[in-house]
Amino acid sequence: MNTSELRATAHALVAKHRGILAADESTSTIGKRFNSIKLESTEENRRLYREMLFTTPGATENISGVILYDETIHQKTADGVPFPTFLTQQGMIPGIKVDTGAKPLAGFPGETITEGLDGLRERFAEYYKLGARFAKWRAVIDIGAGVPTDYAIEANAAALARYATLAQEASIVPIVEPEVLMDGGHTIERCEEVTNAVLDRVFSHLFAARVYLEGMVLKPNMVIAGRKCAQQASPEQVAEATVRTLRRQVPSAVPGIAFLSGGQSPTDATLHLSLMNAAAPLPWALTFSYGRALQETALKAWGGNAATFAAGQQAMAVRAKLNSLAAGGTYKAAMESSAA
Ligand code: 13P
Repeated sequence: MNTSELRATAHALVAKHRGILAADESTSTIGKRFNSIKLESTEENRRLYREMLFTTPGATENISGVILYDETIHQKTADGVPFPTFLTQQGMIPGIKVDTGAKPLAGFPGETITEGLDGLRERFAEYYKLGARFAKWRAVIDIGAGVPTDYAIEANAAALARYATLAQEASIVPIVEPEVLMDGGHTIERCEEVTNAVLDRVFSHLFAARVYLEGMVLKPNMVIAGRKCAQQASPEQVAEATVRTLRRQVPSAVPGIAFLSGGQSPTDATLHLSLMNAAAPLPWALTFSYGRALQETALKAWGGNAATFAAGQQAMAVRAKLNSLAAGGTYKAAMESSAA
């Protein structure tokens, strides 16, 4: 483990109000996104879409790193430059999703365990050679009747810690992502309770596994009411509950926290981040590692057509810029109309 390299990479990912573009959708997930614009999910269309995002003019000003999928890390720009090389040349750090997905947890109906530890040491060595300097592993915790159980939280936290030590051994910064889903009908209070319990177990396992906290990034959910809850919290309540939870659970040795968007609208995800950063000083940098909230408008504007390639990039640039302002706490909802 090279602690100075890990530390430098972790800081670079979260510094200067830049954030991460999560473009690591599996082939099946990107297929669903393409369905929404009626585009066939071929290997070339997936490559073209990622090229559109990555070559967005000026992206590097607001994007520190990009999370890639295994297929994508092996693909090239139209000019024949491997994506990780292209990103590095532009000043964006290439990252790689290494988990192999959340699978049903035997004995615990409705809960999942994220897989992918077997052979991970060898895969990390290969990904480092390909240029990856950070990685992502996503654990999924659902809220519902009788779930999550303590056992499912423990099992997922243990897997996150095993992944994180293997990443650091290979001098790759682990993004540790325990996602509490916002799919249910639960209240924001219940989300806060579960997020506290999950982060408590995650940091306990990270410490026990000897993870170098100064060389990692946490990717949590925000504390928010479930999508189907009748009582939706205000943006200020989301920001307040999220910051309160993180202050209680995340050691200040961790350089940065980069949120997932989890199904929030692009504008909600930006506003929540900005309100949290307005509560500065905070012990860690707070930024974004959004998938849908960065890509949704770009995917629609592009629509799979060569003629609207630049329009897709323009939409991507707008969200990246507004989220960067949010990482500095200076975004205002009124900026949406002038930016579009
Ligand atoms: P969303 O922002 O769409 O939740 O995706 C982020 C991510 O990487 C989930 O693992």
